[in-house]
Amino acid sequence: MSPRGVFLVFEGIDVSGKSTQARRVALSNDALFTFEPGDTPLGAELRHWVLDAATPMNPATEALLMLSDRSHHVRTVIEPALDEGRNVVSDRYYASTLAYQGYGRGVDLALLRAASELAIGSCLPTLTILLDIPLEVVNERRAHDAQDRFESADLAFHQRVRDGYLELAQENAWFVVDGSLAESEVAGVIDERVADLPW
Ligand code: TYD
Repeated sequence: MSPRGVFLVFEGIDVSGKSTQARRVALSNDALFTFEPGDTPLGAELRHWVLDAATPMNPATEALLMLSDRSHHVRTVIEPALDEGRNVVSDRYYASTLAYQGYGRGVDLALLRAASELAIGSCLPTLTILLDIPLEVVNERRAHDAQDRFESADLAFHQRVRDGYLELAQENAWFVVDGSLAESEVAGVIDERVADLPW
């Protein structure tokens, strides 16, 4: 039996640069790249509805759709790959729901944690990397106008999500990277840290 693969997760607010870094690290370490929400056929359907700003939705429904996507994603993509000994890099995972639906929308965190456990079982990341950027940088980087349910949320929402991420990072000893640095500098800091992982 091959040893279980490394499971690396990238988190951060929109335009933090995490998707670019997650893809790059997956490629350079021969890992499977995946993302949430939406990286399965069922997930793509859920993603459509949960991001569609034209479909009003309460925060609990939003959270449960994200968790449904994750539950299916873990069981059909992430766990099977890890069990085969493949390394996996995911752009977002359970912390996105705590940050966006918990801190951002105000869904009860204890309930969300319990529901998250139902969604992911014992499949915890080997390491979570948070790309942190201040809201001023978000405004500078946003190339287009709003858009999906989250992009069109107000500044205060995104500030709560960022603050929530920082709190979670401290509680859980995640690796926090200053995402406002130049892309090559961000890459250097990340590469130094992930070199330690048992790829
Ligand atoms: P996406 O286009 O993948 O954006 P990003 O490049 O920022 O990852 O859209 C995903 C959006 O869904 C993003 O705004 C964050 C949000 N989201 C949640 O609110 N909760 C979650 O659990 C997840 C996985 C994503």
